[in-house]
Amino acid sequence: MALLLLPGGASGGASAEPSDLEEAAGVLAPFKRDLMQALQDGLAQGPVEAIGACQLRAPEIADERSRDGVRVGRTSHRLRNPENAAPDWVAPLLEAYVGNPADRAPRLVPLPGERAGYVEPIGVKPLCLTCHGETLAPAVAERITALYPDDRATGFAVGDLRGLFWLEFRPSR
Ligand code: HEC
Repeated sequence: MALLLLPGGASGGASAEPSDLEEAAGVLAPFKRDLMQALQDGLAQGPVEAIGACQLRAPEIADERSRDGVRVGRTSHRLRNPENAAPDWVAPLLEAYVGNPADRAPRLVPLPGERAGYVEPIGVKPLCLTCHGETLAPAVAERITALYPDDRATGFAVGDLRGLFWLEFRPSR
């Protein structure tokens, strides 16, 4: 099983068909939507409150969306929450994207048991800077440090690679 396929490399013939990529993107979509909704609901209360909302809701949403043979998550080369460390099959992909930050193309790789893995790079948007930017409001910085003493997820600029969404699923065909 060729698990160490690098971005840009051939990824096993049929497994890289656009239809598979589209299916994967569709399975991932509700996870992304719920996360963005939770972030926006949190930010409506204020940035410091939103940190707590992310801390509470992000893992719950990943659990809620990891059902029926599907597993989803987020990871990064600069983690805030160490529990978001990349699964084994994601780690080499993450490394490759970090080594070639201009590459933002999603990737599909075969996994054992007729399953597939899908990754999608996450870019930093202006909205993200409140909690991941170079300069944080003191109250925001304080709350983040209190909750995540090992935080490495600040200092980003708009357009930077923030990390990856990842998905494990069983393609329908
Ligand atoms: C209100 C503060 C806040 C904002 C704004 C915010 N985040 Fe986060 N982010 C967090 C917190 C808190 C965590 C840790 C969540 C957890 O414990 O799983 C996190 C975790 C992450 C992770 C998971 C990897 C890791 O480092 O643990 C990614 C990826 C991420 N954020 C991307 C983004 C992106 C992209 C945006 C903009 C669309 C954004 N964040 C906006 C607070 C924020």
